Amino acid sequence: MRTYIKNLKDSIGSTVLISGWVDVRRDQGKLVFMDMRDMTGKVQCVVLPNHIEAMEQVKEVRTEWVLSISGIVNKRPERNIKADVLNGDIELEITNIEILNKANTPNFDVTTDGKEIGEEARLTYRYLDLRRPRMQKNIRNRHRMAKFIRDFLDKEDFIEIETPILTKSTPEGARDYIVPSRLYKGTFYALPQSPQQYKQLLMASGMEKYFQIARCMRDEDTRGDRQPEFTQLDMEMSFVKKEDVMELNERLLIELVTNLYPNKKIQEIPFPKISYKDSIEKYGNDRPDIRKDKNDSDLLAFCWVVDFPFFERTDKSDNPNTEGEWTFTHNPFSEPILEHKNQMMEGKNLAEILTTQYDITLNGYEIGGGSIRAHQAETLHKVLNIIGHKDEDIEKNFGHMLNAFKTGTPPHGGIAWGFDRLIMLLENEPNIREVIAFPKTGEGKDLMMESPSSVSPKQLKELGITIDSNKK
Ligand code: AMO
Repeated sequence: MRTYIKNLKDSIGSTVLISGWVDVRRDQGKLVFMDMRDMTGKVQCVVLPNHIEAMEQVKEVRTEWVLSISGIVNKRPERNIKADVLNGDIELEITNIEILNKANTPNFDVTTDGKEIGEEARLTYRYLDLRRPRMQKNIRNRHRMAKFIRDFLDKEDFIEIETPILTKSTPEGARDYIVPSRLYKGTFYALPQSPQQYKQLLMASGMEKYFQIARCMRDEDTRGDRQPEFTQLDMEMSFVKKEDVMELNERLLIELVTNLYPNKKIQEIPFPKISYKDSIEKYGNDRPDIRKDKNDSDLLAFCWVVDFPFFERTDKSDNPNTEGEWTFTHNPFSEPILEHKNQMMEGKNLAEILTTQYDITLNGYEIGGGSIRAHQAETLHKVLNIIGHKDEDIEKNFGHMLNAFKTGTPPHGGIAWGFDRLIMLLENEPNIREVIAFPKTGEGKDLMMESPSSVSPKQLKELGITIDSNKK
């Protein structure tokens, strides 16, 4: 039976079988040393001259070969003990080697942190890159974080509900990725930019407390903290005020950090709140970095940003002589703050109207945002009018929301975290590609799978699509 490398210390004096990869191999002639690695850690193995068969086998072996090794777990002599290292006080004396798979010389070293290797190579051979300890740690900690969140929210009576990936294009913010329909030629699904509408419809369904670790797709320029495809911790709650959503999220963030990253220090609890206006005045942006010591890599300065303007003028660059139309700053589905609701319904002082939006920032990054939503049809209708939708478009694009609101939708609100961004910051990584198993490049490519890629003429024909070759 296989013993995991991390458990070898419990088998001192016994013969065991381990399976894994050759991490490093040092041939000293009479003795050959090999570090073996599995998902749980590493151990130094040695072939002694008296194990003649194993000595022959080990001479052939190279790094990244996959082996099963039988051997005896020995305590290391006192002078060779490495304190504070997993298995630093033991050594596996190899008695037999079974080669499970050979490996070509790796394209790059997987035992380093990988920062010295070009990203193109790392992403082309991502399966190999993920073997390095830093990436193993990031991806495993990502899982632990998702699990912690699921357990926490489950205890709070939330349920995780999956929402569709093939959905409908609605004017919401970024550009949609669209998917052609074969059965209804000339029509398209859109991939969700977020589960926003579905989660609100789940509130109409009486689910009351929804969450999802949800994949979102946005066709926008990629940056260090932005991927075309990313993950949100998305949630929505019924019968809540802004303070309820903020309190729950603050508690979750604090417990998550305390349990999973005990070395990190949260600068201020409760998290400070700053208005959008003050943040712009004091920090020049709406994701303030309020850290008192920017050199401390373990300092986490969470901050809520509130009181955002609901509307702003659209880009005037097309025609500098006009003021531009109105658009929403964050989320068209939000409710304005109570004090401004009447003005908004009357279409007055639009630049002054504040929304119930709250963003959560961490060390200068926006790691989440949410709001209390309009839950009455008239309110959403009014917002959509203000941002320039004609009544017939509203019916066509948002009829399902308005109809749902008219069937008895409770007041509700929620939030979505940028899950990748939060992990990036907790792992002290410089960009979210380091915490995503298979990210896209800055140019939106998957170098390993070579996507996007062309499809066969047959597939295009079935979809009724012709490619304008001039526009390639
Ligand atoms: P928003 O668009 O602010 O809100 O998204 C929520 C959080 O998701 C993260 N984020 C991204 N992370 C990586 N790559 C991207 N391209 C990207 N875009 C956004 C950010 C952001 O704060 N439906 C609303 C949420 C709500 O109101 O409940 C929404 O999607 O950290």
